[in-house]
Amino acid sequence: MQKLNGFEITEYKNSKRIIDIKIENEIIDKLIFPFNKFNITALEYKPFTRFTIAKSLDDLTNNKLSKFINLIIRDRNTGCFIISPKQISSKIDDVFLVKLSTAISHLIGTPNYDAMTGKYYARFFVKHQDKSDSYLRKAYTNMDLHTDGTYVKEITDWLLMTKLEEKNVRGGETAMLHLDDWEHCGELFNDPLGAQDFVWSSPKSKNVEYEVKHSIFSKDQKKQPQISYIDQFPEPKNMEQGLFLQKLSDSLEGSKNKIVTKLPVSSLIVANNHFWLHGRKSFKENKNLSRELLRIRGSFF
Ligand SMILES: [Fe+2]
Repeated sequence: MQKLNGFEITEYKNSKRIIDIKIENEIIDKLIFPFNKFNITALEYKPFTRFTIAKSLDDLTNNKLSKFINLIIRDRNTGCFIISPKQISSKIDDVFLVKLSTAISHLIGTPNYDAMTGKYYARFFVKHQDKSDSYLRKAYTNMDLHTDGTYVKEITDWLLMTKLEEKNVRGGETAMLHLDDWEHCGELFNDPLGAQDFVWSSPKSKNVEYEVKHSIFSKDQKKQPQISYIDQFPEPKNMEQGLFLQKLSDSLEGSKNKIVTKLPVSSLIVANNHFWLHGRKSFKENKNLSRELLRIRGSFF
């Protein structure tokens, strides 16, 4: 495994494909000063400041961190890492985590505009009650395995999700599935319907007015399968497409090779969005349930 001063790097406990990166205190301490140069408003209004804080993080590692995480995220065998402070302290609050997430994402690529919030990132809560129109904030429903960006024109090469805070949470584990671990990948990838164009649209809360058309499966440069899929947004135009989506959904959810894991507060998970699917288990009911998340999605440089 790679050695990086100020970081502890191991295979994640639940999967060899996920790299676990723990940030030692000395690095956290050194980040406080450069992170304090800009407040959140500056990061939102002046895109170049995001690169400045990303560079200040990378400089602490002689620019080895960016090389390392870019290798992981592009490597078909891994394609995913979790990065988190080794020790939780009062320095690590939501503002720090927004900045850390911004820094990490800007070492990988440029974020897509998140139409849900009108920013380069989105913060949102999952709570007991929800009146929204998608599964994102429905605490007591399983959020099925999917990729992000299925209904937008921008390319979504990667996604980053940060757990900012949670209270009274039981359940709600993160589910991850790598395409190469999925039992029926070959069968569905080789089905002609997998290469057929589907129409994708999204509910009102996403603030995306248009529809897009694309196939569920595609091939990378080495002809390996890639997927762009979510259960809620494709609009099947006939029985064949409908049944194909049902089969796909059943097969993904039925996979025994899903990684189901409880991510700690203050951790960031970053995954390649072409061959990793992600989802969330339902929460156990609690009136005071609260989880706050941050997401950034984008393309590679
Ligand atoms: Fe998602």
